[in-house]
Amino acid sequence: MSVHIAAVKGEVAETVLLPGDPMRAKWIAETFLENPVCYNDVRGMLGYTGEYKGKRVSVQGTGMGIPSTLIYAHELITEYGVKNLIRVGSAGSYQKEVGIRDIVIAMAASTNSGLNTIRFNGADYAPTASFELFQKALNTANEKGIAIKAGNILSSDEFYADEFESYKKWADYGVLCVEMETNGLYTVAAKHKVNALSILTISDSLVTGERTTADEREQTFKEMIEIALGTL
Ligand code: ADE
Repeated sequence: MSVHIAAVKGEVAETVLLPGDPMRAKWIAETFLENPVCYNDVRGMLGYTGEYKGKRVSVQGTGMGIPSTLIYAHELITEYGVKNLIRVGSAGSYQKEVGIRDIVIAMAASTNSGLNTIRFNGADYAPTASFELFQKALNTANEKGIAIKAGNILSSDEFYADEFESYKKWADYGVLCVEMETNGLYTVAAKHKVNALSILTISDSLVTGERTTADEREQTFKEMIEIALGTL
């Protein structure tokens, strides 16, 4: 096992879906996969491997925020040989054109985290999605008739900002929505030369103050998982 994952080598598939919420990992495994087997419950951060249309795939919770995501992504890549990491999460909209329940694919992820500034000695690094996974996700969405939006997002280190209005600067520069993980995921994937993609559903809007209900979240979550599994 690795420091935070109890699986033995070979128990994790080459492609892993990464929801932040471990209970979402359980739900995805039980709803979409055949013969799901739980390989991790260390710290309650559930991980499963099963099959989707005859192909092996895993689902691993990451927790919230870049530091937690980096722990799981790093161990999945370096200890279990994972090659494709697909985050499936929620985000808050920064644009009036991006409504609740919309699906956003992160082409790039800006951040207010200091991690990459430290890593690159004060310079800015621009982490981007895997072009290969991005293309596959687009093709799947088109085939299934699921509308998506794509562009730059913000991975924020704080959910509750002191100054609510500070989001408008990012919005001005075209950032579509905010979540808390993708910048770290794309960075660690680039370092280890593997593929990463974040597919997000809009759960709330900073522009209108709207929030999705639990039922609505489940429905859009299903479409997002179908796009993610379509990349297999
Ligand atoms: N994830 C979903 N909504 C969010 C928000 N408003 N801020 C940060 N992360 C989020």
